[in-house]
Amino acid sequence: MVTGGAGFIGSNFIRYLLKKTDFKGAIINVDKLTYAGNLENLIDIDQEFGKKRYFFERVDICDYDTLRKGFQKYKTDTIVHFAAESHVDRSIFGPRDFIETNIIGTFNLLEIAREGWQGRDDVLFHHISTDEVYGSLGKEGYFFETTPYNPNSPYSASKASSDHLVRAYHHTYGLPITLSNCSNNYGPYQFPEKLIPLMILNMLEEKPLPVYGDGKNIRDWLYVEDHASAVWTIMNRGKTGETYNIGGENEWENIKLVTVLCEKVAGKSSNPRDYYKKLITFVKDRPGHDRRYAINCDKIKEDLNWKQSVDFNEGLDKTIDWYLANKIWIANVQSGDYTKWIDMNYARRGSSFHTEMNNR
Ligand code: NAD
Ligand code: TYD
Repeated sequence: MVTGGAGFIGSNFIRYLLKKTDFKGAIINVDKLTYAGNLENLIDIDQEFGKKRYFFERVDICDYDTLRKGFQKYKTDTIVHFAAESHVDRSIFGPRDFIETNIIGTFNLLEIAREGWQGRDDVLFHHISTDEVYGSLGKEGYFFETTPYNPNSPYSASKASSDHLVRAYHHTYGLPITLSNCSNNYGPYQFPEKLIPLMILNMLEEKPLPVYGDGKNIRDWLYVEDHASAVWTIMNRGKTGETYNIGGENEWENIKLVTVLCEKVAGKSSNPRDYYKKLITFVKDRPGHDRRYAINCDKIKEDLNWKQSVDFNEGLDKTIDWYLANKIWIANVQSGDYTKWIDMNYARRGSSFHTEMNNR
């Protein structure tokens, strides 16, 4: 059972498992299809594997009874739990869904697994989490698996809470679990509210490129398929009860990353190299904006022999090419609540795309 399989990382994970590994089983994708869930992300998978090795059930993980029926119907022996509300900005303006899905939803899954698996040791609950649970770093240092939790946003606090529940179910009930905390992902099928796809799409529409604060916040970027391979590695070779950090070892200041994106998108069009840079607009900072994330992922590299396979230059090219080639996907995604959210987000920052555009 893959929860949240219609989202960005979940859909890439399903594709990776069915197309690039020796996995022989079947997958049930359990997803509520929120604004971020999109079955178009898996059309190719449904065509090739549907009703044979790939099944979809539209279920809200907060709905305990329906979730339990799905778990039983498919004789589930493994849960890979991606489903979550995942965007920090949304968690600042509306934290309730984050508490419900990320905490109560995870609790429901744990309860169903505990009851359904009754002490079996041939089963696994793998929980997908984020490096944001560790808080914010200064100029120096890294997050290790042993770094104390110090979440700062409603999003990271809700993920931290779910991580603690997962670990507690292992400690208390012996539920076979593994847990991974990953840095920022990028790649195809990412909903364009997150930094990289938002910037690419805004360039294509010649809209301002909103950089929060001074633009010097730092994130560690990992290509989404490398996240999928890391999760699959942990599921196969990870030690039960353990946490593994996953990262790109690839730190970038936001403003430098946006500048590189401008040059790359220009390079793929007939525009001059600096064409899109004039769209860069510094906007009011995100409240409580974490300054720097940086992952130490020696444990998964040394103990499980995993490593990243896509370098940033290649990954950004693949990502930009994907968005350039998938205009229908973009149009469909933008026809939902996307435009409304983007406008609301900027109105709350005391400006809007239109005023920012006019003020340039
Ligand atoms: P996403 O927002 O693209 O997808 C989330 C998916 O979960 C969607 O398909 C959505 O419909 C589904 N979902 C939401 N609420 C649900 C509910 N109540 N019941 C069932 N399904 C529900 O998110 P993503 O970026 O793919 O992130 C997936 C997981 O990875 C999350 O747990 C997130 O915390 C974690 N993570 C993300 C990143 C990142 O950079 N995106 C980094 C580290 C960890
Ligand atoms: P985001 O993609 O939202 O991921 P996260 O907040 O989980 O790290 O943001 C990545 C970084 O980019 C973060 O420092 C906030 C910044 N950012 C902007 O400057 N402008 C934007 O429009 C967005 C969405 C993010």
